[in-house]
Amino acid sequence: MNKFFDANKDVWDDKVDVHKDSEFYNVKGFMKGESTLDPIELEELGDVSGKSLLHLQCHFGLDTMCWERLGADVVGVDFSGEAIDLARSIAKEANLNAKFVQANIYDLREHLDQKFDIVFTSGGVIMWLNDLEKWGEIIDHFLKPGGVFYIREFHSFAAIFNDETEEPILKVRYPYFHGSEPMTYVSDTTYTDSKKKMDAKRAYEWNHSISRIINSLTRVGLRIEFFNEFPFTTYKALTFLEENDEGRWVLPEGKEFVPFMFSLKATKR
Ligand SMILES: C[S@@+](CC[C@H](N)C(=O)[O-])C[C@H]1O[C@@H](n2cnc3c(N)ncnc32)[C@H](O)[C@@H]1O
Repeated sequence: MNKFFDANKDVWDDKVDVHKDSEFYNVKGFMKGESTLDPIELEELGDVSGKSLLHLQCHFGLDTMCWERLGADVVGVDFSGEAIDLARSIAKEANLNAKFVQANIYDLREHLDQKFDIVFTSGGVIMWLNDLEKWGEIIDHFLKPGGVFYIREFHSFAAIFNDETEEPILKVRYPYFHGSEPMTYVSDTTYTDSKKKMDAKRAYEWNHSISRIINSLTRVGLRIEFFNEFPFTTYKALTFLEENDEGRWVLPEGKEFVPFMFSLKATKR
């Protein structure tokens, strides 16, 4: 498995330089006090003040630090050294106390000895993980009794459609159920508006079915409080998606045919 993680870490290290100046990540806005958190997360996770919060796969930590601005005591984790270095330097410049740990989440128990009120993760995370059963165990390990796990994520069903055709037709191209091998592709661009090119490198992803996601949490005893699905997303996931007045990307004419994102909250008994 290390072969896949090493390759993905390399790709993510390269993305940091591309992302830090993008409008998508809006570091300037963050420095002025704007929030990068999605309105769905703010509403569904609710008040975090006075709570300890672990952010899994935090990239360069803008969301992590936004939770701190809302009163949480935060730790962000990511396996990209470039992302963690940038997160630490932004925290210093913004005068924030967020702690950042560089680690593969699967090894996190060796790097972090703390339990949390909230474990949070969002927006393009689980497709980088091969084993969701272990992921569920890690979430459970880091939660205090009564603690909350929250995820807002891109929907696995929306990931099956052809994302390269301009033709506004939903055509199945990728499997919904992943096999033993990851899906793989080579790219020199990212999902942001940045025109900066990266070296073209190979990445590996796993599309996890919704049942696999839910079962990975219930098998460790977490109680699902809600599971929500949304007919819009946060970026141009398919070439023919259109941006609506709320800045959400939707199917032409706003057709609500596909769940593009989901959210889930679970509690540890
Ligand atoms: C899309 S980004 C993070 C999502 C966040 N919402 C954002 O857009 O900033 C995915 C992150 O997962 C990290 N990542 C991928 N696999 C990982 C792993 N096994 N352990 C820790 N971090 C990982 C990458 O380095 C990357 O920063």
